[in-house]
Amino acid sequence: MNIRTVCVLGGTGFVGRHLVKALSAAGLQVKVFTRRVQRARPLLVLPGVVLVETDYGNVTDLQHAFEGSDAIIHLVGIPDGHAKLQRRVHVDLPRTVVEAARLARVQRLVYMSALHADAHGGASTFLRTKGAGEDLVHAMAEEVRVTSFRPAPIFGRGDALLTPLAARIQEHRRLLLANAGARLAPVYVMDVVERLVQALFSPHRGGDRHDLCGPRTYTLGELAAYVAHTLNRPCRILPLPDALAAPRAWLTGHLPGGHTGLDRHRTLQVGAQCPAGDPCPTPLEAVVADVLVPSDLQGRLQQLRSRPH
Ligand SMILES: NC(=O)c1ccc[n+]([C@@H]2O[C@H](COP(=O)([O-])OP(=O)(O)OC[C@H]3O[C@@H](n4cnc5c(N)ncnc54)[C@H](OP(=O)(O)O)[C@@H]3O)[C@@H](O)[C@H]2O)c1
Repeated sequence: MNIRTVCVLGGTGFVGRHLVKALSAAGLQVKVFTRRVQRARPLLVLPGVVLVETDYGNVTDLQHAFEGSDAIIHLVGIPDGHAKLQRRVHVDLPRTVVEAARLARVQRLVYMSALHADAHGGASTFLRTKGAGEDLVHAMAEEVRVTSFRPAPIFGRGDALLTPLAARIQEHRRLLLANAGARLAPVYVMDVVERLVQALFSPHRGGDRHDLCGPRTYTLGELAAYVAHTLNRPCRILPLPDALAAPRAWLTGHLPGGHTGLDRHRTLQVGAQCPAGDPCPTPLEAVVADVLVPSDLQGRLQQLRSRPH
């Protein structure tokens, strides 16, 4: 299929930034949709990238913004938050997007869901609303060809998995870790980007859904220990008993700046391993330095290495 112009919704986020860079490097025209253009300005240095400000509230406005585009990649999502907000972001917003895509005659939609998303059996509001949004997008898409992806936690520069763990390990010599036994098969962000781009150009007629996992499974405790080892930072990882983890998650979710709320705790408790299939190739060990070492430090190390002795 001939794809020249792609709309990326949620293109300012962790996955989005890596994806937009790859699409721009591939010579595509990329429209990045965002609620706050001001914050997204750094993306404008990439060739072919323009920003579109939207609150996703109006089908007609979105339709006009989509017109003339060949495909949409939908990455908008929030990892937790109260149920009403999650329903609005994960169900109502995709409904508006698919309706606008249909009216604008965009033929291709690549949709980002989450591993274990399930409208009825999901263990958290996040997994239930993501599942409901995914089902709705597939059900509504008669004229739009939809492919959806269901990733395990994603790692890479700027992620929400290894980066916050590293920050906590840098600060503390002991880390009280909830869900330390949760089993995860994290997937590398550039493998995810590759699958998203492949789906764009695939001649497949759509309707397909793909789980995405990395090649290895770790417990969260093992991941934390590995990050500490990589940073060469002695840190004792102390698993927080499950009976205490839920009340603590509830409490931190209610504190100002608290992030690991009860809903995220419930999502994590399920773990994230793909039931079957073809794992993405990149092991965490192959890229961990690039993920954890700040880029300015990498630049300085590179300079030191290239200096004559
Ligand atoms: N990262 C992971 O480990 C992981 C794992 C499984 C599934 N996923 C899914 O993959 C997708 C991308 O993840 P990510 O980590 O890149 O997410 P992210 O960094 O949090 O970015 C999400 C994007 O969604 C937009 N957004 C957030 N709240 C919104 C709201 N209330 N209304 C409209 N737009 C809103 C933001 O765009 P603006 O602020 O610019 O508007 C942001 O760029 C999400 O759907 C996520 O659920 C991610």
